[in-house]
Amino acid sequence: MRYFFLIYALVVVFVVSIFGFRGNKFKQPPIRIFPDMDDQDYVKAQKPSNFLKSGMGAQRPVTGTVPLGHVAIEDADSELRGYGNKETYLHTGRFNETNFGKGLPKELDLGDAKKVTALVTRGQEVYGFKCAVCHGASGNGVGTAKVNGFLSTISNLRTSSLVEGSMYDVIVNGRGNMGQQGRDLTLYDRWAVIAYVKMLQASAKADYSNPKIKEIFDAGSEK
Ligand code: HEC
Repeated sequence: MRYFFLIYALVVVFVVSIFGFRGNKFKQPPIRIFPDMDDQDYVKAQKPSNFLKSGMGAQRPVTGTVPLGHVAIEDADSELRGYGNKETYLHTGRFNETNFGKGLPKELDLGDAKKVTALVTRGQEVYGFKCAVCHGASGNGVGTAKVNGFLSTISNLRTSSLVEGSMYDVIVNGRGNMGQQGRDLTLYDRWAVIAYVKMLQASAKADYSNPKIKEIFDAGSEK
């Protein structure tokens, strides 16, 4: 009988030590055998600290730090790096607030070839991460979304007859099953992707019977 009480008492202690008093509040801090880094020294926000030479708790970012997700660009103040809330063609794709325009806006200043290359290169990048998933890498409307059956019909951009201004409108405001794509694309990126789509269209029209084009594909022969 003595042993029974002893074992009984031990079982009670054992059970209570595992399941008992959880969630109860105590005035004393708990005894921690394994502290598991629950409590650590830390510096309170905005308070001084003599840990570093500057004597400040919060440190300034290292000179030249770029916020995550942003790229330091030389013309960061340029209108083209903005997201657009004006009424001009650059911002809306429309002239006179009603008619869609044709061509790229003059603000892109595409006078020299370098700027054109930069625009199309950026356009290809944007197309790759924003559009290809639906419209396909070549623009034929058979992207991953179509292949996996998420969307049954996606426009073929290679044969689209939309003018540039109208494309701009579709990109910014979305249409049908295509959501708005503009909010995280700067004005520059929106027009860049249009320039790239135009390139895809031009490549789709490449005519093998044209001697200049034939020459490219016939390359590899001895001169
Ligand atoms: C979620 C999939 C999806 C993404 C991402 C997407 N599109 Fe679309 N897009 C569609 C669908 C679907 C349509 C057909 C909309 C309709 O008319 O119902 C369409 C239509 C268009 C049209 C109109 C074509 C025409 O001739 O009517 C253009 C231009 C276009 N997309 C360009 C783009 C560009 C540029 C991007 C990237 C910035 C993009 N889309 C991203 C699904 C997408």
